[in-house]
Order: sequence, then C-alpha cells, then structure tokens
Amino acid sequence: MSNQIIGFTFRSPTIIFGRNSLDSIGSEVRDFGDALLITGKSAMKKAGFTDKIEDLLKKVNINTHLFDKIVPEPTLEMLDDCFQFAKESKIGFVIGLGGGSVLDAAKPIAALYKEDISTVSEFMGKEFTKPGIPFIAIPTTSGTGSEVTKNSVIKVKKEGKKYSIFRDPLMIAKIAILDPYITATMPPKITAASGMDALVQAIECFVSLKANTISDLLSINAIEIIGKNLKQAVEDGQNIDAREKMAYGSLISGLAFSNGGLGAIHGLAHPIGFQHDVPHGVICALLLPYIMEFNKDICKERFALMAEKLDLDVKNKSIQERADKLINYIRNLIEEINLPTKLTELNIKKSDISDIVKDTKGSSLNANPRKATPEFLTEILMSAL
Ligand SMILES: [Fe+2]
Repeated sequence: MSNQIIGFTFRSPTIIFGRNSLDSIGSEVRDFGDALLITGKSAMKKAGFTDKIEDLLKKVNINTHLFDKIVPEPTLEMLDDCFQFAKESKIGFVIGLGGGSVLDAAKPIAALYKEDISTVSEFMGKEFTKPGIPFIAIPTTSGTGSEVTKNSVIKVKKEGKKYSIFRDPLMIAKIAILDPYITATMPPKITAASGMDALVQAIECFVSLKANTISDLLSINAIEIIGKNLKQAVEDGQNIDAREKMAYGSLISGLAFSNGGLGAIHGLAHPIGFQHDVPHGVICALLLPYIMEFNKDICKERFALMAEKLDLDVKNKSIQERADKLINYIRNLIEEINLPTKLTELNIKKSDISDIVKDTKGSSLNANPRKATPEFLTEILMSAL
C-alpha cells in the first residue's frame, strides 16, 4: 500500500454495534414521532424481531405503522405503495428491518418523505431539495452494506433495468443498528450468498481505482475477518461469535466500498440480476475468481497482501504464487459453502451473454483496476459458462 495519504470524504451513519444493541432503539428515537417499520413478508415476524421493535418503541410512547410487503429484489411499484402508506400514516421516521432489498426499499421512503410528491416514481431523475425524515437501518443479513450506503438499487420494470435509482448523501441512514442476534436467524444459503457479497465488495474495493487511505484500511480488515469466519457462520448459524464477526466484517466492507468504490463484478451483477433473477450475492460470488484472474497481473501485490492476511501458506512464495494461492482459496471457499461456480448452473447460456455485456456500465465498472472492455467482459463470461 502507498505511504501517501490519499484524500477522502468519509460519510457514515451513527453506528450502534453489538450483541443486543437492538435494545437501545427506544432511547435513540425518543423524539422522532410515529414510526414506519418496513420489513419483508414473514421472516422477522416469525423470529420475533418485528414484535420486539414494536414493544421497545411502545415503551417510549411511539406508535408503529407496519409495512411488511417487501419482497427480494424490490420494484419501483412496490416503493410507490410503501410511500403512499407512509404518507397516509403521517410518520416521523422510518425503520428498515431486513436484508439489502428491504433497506434499499426503505431508504428512499425516508429520504423523499418531505419532497412535494405523491409517488416515488415521479421523483425519478430529480435532485433532492431537502433532507427527509430519519432512517434507521437494521440489517438482518451480513452482506450488502446497505445500512451505510447512500444509494438504493431497485428494479425498474418499464426500463428493463435494475440500478441505483437515487444516489445522494441525504439517503444515508441516520442510525445503523447491527445486532448479531438478528443475523443468527438467517438460513445457510442466505448467510453464504450475503457473506460472499460482503467479501466481494471488500476485495473489489481494495483494488478499486477509487480506493483511498481509509477505505484501504477498512477493506483489508474486512477481507481478513470475513475470510476467516464466513464458513463457520454458514455451517453453524447459531455460532454467535462467527455471526458477530461477520456482522462487523460486512459493516466495514460497506463503509469501505461506499467511500472507496467497487469494480467489474458489481458492474456485471446488476444486469445479470435483473435479466436472470439471480440473488445478488450468488452472482457476485460466482464471478469473483474469474474477475480476480482478469485483474491479477495489475494488482498482484495487493492480492499477495490479502493472502498474507488470510494466513494462507505463503512463506517463501513469490508475489505471483501468493496471488494464485489467494484465487485458489476463493474458489475452494465458494465450493465449501455450496454456491454455484458456473453460469449454466443459473440457467445463463452463451446466447445471453451479449445482452448482459450491453447493459454492463457505470461507476463500478469504471473503478475496476484493469479496463474491462465489452470484449474482455464477453471473454470472462464465456469462461464462466
Ligand atoms: Fe454487493
């Protein structure tokens, strides 16, 4: 890593982290008015956390309005329904309790609440004119980093795309509460996919062209913590120590990439996610070794450093060998946690590749350390079939 300090602007919510940190919610939101609690359909209700939040808020005399209709990969129409419900409920703040999909859906509801609009759709393409109402992000997975980011990835069916519909510092949560006991309810498949998303984000950020001194510090630390704990969290979801480390690793991965950028994997993941309905973490994990091979020659020193941090057996090995060891380690990890390694396993065929490449653009792709031209992307996807 360079000894020079690279300038940065570092944005972040207030972060409350730790076992049972959810219990502090009442004192944090005491004067905020009525709450809108946005969740997925049933997992948090079944696990008791929806009721727990309502009870904790009741103790500080706060009414809760529940919107529990967010499905994975939410659409703009869903946000419009939620926004209408928020306006009718006359709320003072928004709580998002869920994975990345729920948090990304909840973020614009809070941020746009004071704008002079009646649907989220009509604000598309416009600039924020004022701060919204406070947003409290409570992630239930360790993965997307949405609790600390300023954007919201949503499916816009009529445009045939999934992308960040809004990106503004005013979207950042006021408070992020990370309680590992909540993530302990997630099944192995979601733990594996979301955990790999966090690892991919940290690896992409560590070699990103937009990385800076503080994102380097966070991303390399995230790689070490996630790399050493993901398998355990997948195999034994009740291992609260592994869950806590994954929650922390995912948090600092989110802080890293939201300030230091991503790369070609995230550039590809959005069009593939939209066109083929594949969970975000699954496609990110699948592409990781292929893109690492593509980037290897340009960032082998950084790959070697990651191998050292992960305690891979790299003594007396050259930089090149260390980088290769890292990629092998990643391949094995993906297999060990039972995620797919070939696009055909996700029903993505050779004939689908040109449409994917055509829609792959944006800031993540541009931050990739090696210029990922459409020709290279095609080659990479062909090798992943
Ligand atoms: Fe991601």
